[in-house]
Amino acid sequence: MTTIHVTGGAPLVGTVHVRGAKNFVSKAMVAALLGETTSRLRDVPDISDVAIVRGLLQLHGVKVSQGADSAELTMDPSDVELAHVADIDAHAGASRIPILFCGPLVHRLGTAFIPDLGGCRIGDRPINYHLDVLRQFGAVVEKLPSGIAISAPRRLRGTKLSLPYPSVGTTEQVLLTAVRAEGVTELRNAAVEPEILDLIGVLQKMGAIISVDTDRVIRIEGVDTLTGYDHRALPDRIEAASWGSAALATGGDVYVRGARQADMMTFLNTFRKIGGAFDIDDEGIRFFHPGGPLHSIALETDVHPGFMTDWQQPLVVALTQAKGLSIVHETVYENRLGFTEALVRMGATIQTYRECLGSTPCRFGAMDFRHSAVVSGPTPLRAAEIEVPDLRGGFSHLIAALAAEGTSTVHGVELIDRGYEHFFAKLEGLGAVVARAEGAMA
Ligand code: EPU
Repeated sequence: MTTIHVTGGAPLVGTVHVRGAKNFVSKAMVAALLGETTSRLRDVPDISDVAIVRGLLQLHGVKVSQGADSAELTMDPSDVELAHVADIDAHAGASRIPILFCGPLVHRLGTAFIPDLGGCRIGDRPINYHLDVLRQFGAVVEKLPSGIAISAPRRLRGTKLSLPYPSVGTTEQVLLTAVRAEGVTELRNAAVEPEILDLIGVLQKMGAIISVDTDRVIRIEGVDTLTGYDHRALPDRIEAASWGSAALATGGDVYVRGARQADMMTFLNTFRKIGGAFDIDDEGIRFFHPGGPLHSIALETDVHPGFMTDWQQPLVVALTQAKGLSIVHETVYENRLGFTEALVRMGATIQTYRECLGSTPCRFGAMDFRHSAVVSGPTPLRAAEIEVPDLRGGFSHLIAALAAEGTSTVHGVELIDRGYEHFFAKLEGLGAVVARAEGAMA
């Protein structure tokens, strides 16, 4: 476990560079499996989730190499082969991306094996929607003690699908499977996050025929073959918002090079309502605290174009510094407020509730999940010893430590490497007082 010490109290000031979105890049890498020729993906961040997917592709015979610019990956899928179950199993627990290998591998090899999935513990995170849609394409799904075996007695067939909830991963599953299935697939209640639209762009470059219709309906006409692609990833709007939240919570001023307004409209509106300020230019967005008190708000997370669940955790830290009562209703994950316990230990006044404290009753209202929170501020924060619970929660704890009086000890920061490229160096570059604990790995 990697431990760092964070001495708070100083505003973050300076520039950080945000590269391609973690939640797009990993899917675009899987899409490379579908092509007959080499794909080239640019602006790939150096994060551990990318390393995991790269390892999985290589296990399946894809030749992956880094370009002269280390942020460029080429992926040659001409020798795709079945991987050894034991090798795939070694990746078990590391990420949720393996589930998206199903469609491409079944098209290429007729069969796929998916290990038990990892990912952040922010809820139960079942894969029932994924397995249901695969079955509807004609795949045979067999649950084994170590994972899931998928096979197809014949070519997968396009089908009419409707999701019970607009799941990001299941929408991607459908896209990656339908593009090479026989006939037309219609997906109702699809998720349409910018990362999904960028994946559709990649698939279109490869030769797919996909239309995004009104009311979140996606229609895919299957084709027999696809080629490789050349694509630059869209920027990571979660990382950009995280640095924006860090600037606000510490009273700082951070220019996020690479941040793109179009993908962040909802975050920017909320940031402004709280009292944060921003300047937008062609290269990025400057987020800063303009002075004066921050204002409390009522916030509800939702699928795109709503306020992203992944923006919620970093922004809640800034809300501890806002005057009055803020209300947060988390409607995407049932268990994404657990990170507030550490904030309370640091001096924040946050109470969580099972009830839906928002205008829209959500799926979790009738269940026993503390998915709403009331934050009362402003409260000074003090240093604490913290263990990183999940990727975004962990980054929020870092922000809290940076805003707090004294030196905090944060354990398990390697989880943050999953989605924040070189976060330690970036923090140092912004003037944060951070140090690796004795014996900690680089
Ligand atoms: N769900 C089911 N059954 C399923 C799939 C999803 O019940 O088969 C539920 C989930 O439990 C959750 C909701 O549907 O309550 C939404 O899950 P979704 O499938 O949309 O999420 P995901 O694809 O697993 C991706 C991102 C998450 C991000 C969500 C929502 C990746 C690798 N992960 O997860 O990112 O929060 O979409 O936007 O793309 C992160 O980056 O920290 C992160 C957690």
